[in-house]
Amino acid sequence: MRLEILKDEEAMSRRAAEVIARAVREKPDLVLGLATGGTPVGTYRELVRLYREGRIDFARVTTFNLDEYVGLEPHDPRSYHAYMEEHLFRHVNLRPEATHLPDGWAEDLEAECRRYEALIEAAGGIDLQLLGIGRDGHIGFNEPGARWEQGTRVVRLKPETRQDNARYFGGVLEAVPERAISMGIRTIMHARRLLLLAAGPHKAEIVRRAIEGPVSRHVPASILQLHPDALVLLDECAASQLTRARALARRQEQASG
Ligand code: GLP
Repeated sequence: MRLEILKDEEAMSRRAAEVIARAVREKPDLVLGLATGGTPVGTYRELVRLYREGRIDFARVTTFNLDEYVGLEPHDPRSYHAYMEEHLFRHVNLRPEATHLPDGWAEDLEAECRRYEALIEAAGGIDLQLLGIGRDGHIGFNEPGARWEQGTRVVRLKPETRQDNARYFGGVLEAVPERAISMGIRTIMHARRLLLLAAGPHKAEIVRRAIEGPVSRHVPASILQLHPDALVLLDECAASQLTRARALARRQEQASG
């Protein structure tokens, strides 16, 4: 796992967009895994800027999002479908048929999970997966205790996660769906590269547990320690509780000039 600590959230977002843009330049038909939440908003803003400047071309890129709530229509402004339209899709030249999110409105949710997993496989697997981290260590919507061998599936959200996401639902906890469809840990770990972002002091403790703690099902993000090509980008606040990893990041930085 490689770690870079950037001075603030804006610098982290710029760096993340740069990593993605370089991956697209190297492989124009990149299969890109996308994430939602507050953290990647700045990264999408940067990607839109790079696109407008002609420095990234999404014409041949395919995308797969990590997750979607169950029971929200795709046009519901609180859905991750709507989030992606607002922050990225409508601003760049991604082909609509090349963008994918699980359908949380599907009648047969189990069939939808199988369909999504098969679509990823048919696309040749994910080349680069963007990730955020929940305060309880979840990635996608894989909550603590999630089994590592699982693919895309229906998950039940923990109260803490629903509370954190209530801000998108007018602050009303009861309005936050109790279930979601999420890529599983196995799906995520099969991606050839992972790019995890975390910013802000409220992420410092979970970042420390994920990066410096033992690899454990109680902290789903800790599995990134076992991925052969994972890059973690943190701002100073999110990195503030790191000890060993921080020293390592500094040494890596010095070594690379
Ligand atoms: C949601 C998403 C996760 C995301 C997490 C953290 O639960 N399903 O993919 O990483 O929120 O969100 P934020 O970036 O807003 O802290």
